[in-house]
Amino acid sequence: MKKSLTVLTALGLLGTSLPVQAGIEEDIAAFQDYFKKRFPAVSLEDYADGVNALPQYAHRRANWELLMEFPPHDPDLKKGRELWATPFKNGGTFGECFKDKPPANKYPYYDPASDDLITVEEDINSCLKANGEDPIKNLDTGTIALLAAAFREQFNGEKMAVDVSHPEAVKWYEKGRQYYWARRGQLNFSCATCHVHSAGNKLRGDVLSAGLGHGVGFPVYRTKWSIEGNPWGTLHRRYGGCNKQTHANPLEPQSPEYKALELYEAVMNTGIPLKVPSQRE
Ligand code: HEC
Repeated sequence: MKKSLTVLTALGLLGTSLPVQAGIEEDIAAFQDYFKKRFPAVSLEDYADGVNALPQYAHRRANWELLMEFPPHDPDLKKGRELWATPFKNGGTFGECFKDKPPANKYPYYDPASDDLITVEEDINSCLKANGEDPIKNLDTGTIALLAAAFREQFNGEKMAVDVSHPEAVKWYEKGRQYYWARRGQLNFSCATCHVHSAGNKLRGDVLSAGLGHGVGFPVYRTKWSIEGNPWGTLHRRYGGCNKQTHANPLEPQSPEYKALELYEAVMNTGIPLKVPSQRE
């Protein structure tokens, strides 16, 4: 206990009552300290901006800032808010379903009743089903991303504080951690190869973002995806793209592996405020 308190004090998190176990607290401290040492000028909060936060990307940051004056995602985001607020045929709303759910900075969460780890996208579909509506099939892009953005943006500024106190949540966390650090694909890369060890380095013209902050700005609107016709993407769409980069097979969005990975990354982001949606290259 004493040790974990020291870690919390070091992180400046005392008083926010982190619902995590000692081993996990140490993982968070180690992960965040690594980036603090590597990029001393970047504050914890800045990591929400993805690659834009890194000094190695500074030459392109001005473009991004200019773009943010009239964000290209605005019209779609308005559509998402309208969809979120439109009552179902039975008069129910997303707002009513989510009234009893955790705030967005506490997703994903472990639900003992279903013995499952639950993401925002899954709760959106449960809400549709509970109200007699068809669930959304495309969990990568389109409506699901707009609705997730409309929910998550309501909690912008709230610091990530996922609850991993339940022993089953710890199992999900361990699964996600394992996935993050395990090497795979023809290139034999792990997530950490690119986003921890090579963060800030260039890969085929891209600067690699820090793993810290991953997910805090999602769903995102990406220029690359907009050229292909579907500008919005959920976090799991991005995971699929990253798996392909290493010539590994992408998994289905909302697969147990990606949900576990989302939990692991969310826990590493403890203390970073939500910033939804984001624009990326
Ligand atoms: C071969 C290198 C490579 C590997 C391995 C890799 N990625 Fe990526 N990833 C990228 C590149 C390039 C981008 C786009 C630039 C950036 O944001 O880093 C990216 C972007 C991301 C983003 C978006 C960040 C943001 O804020 O926009 C997330 C999240 C992400 N990766 C997660 C992962 C996860 C999880 C894994 C492991 C399953 C992984 N990546 C493996 C290269 C990689």
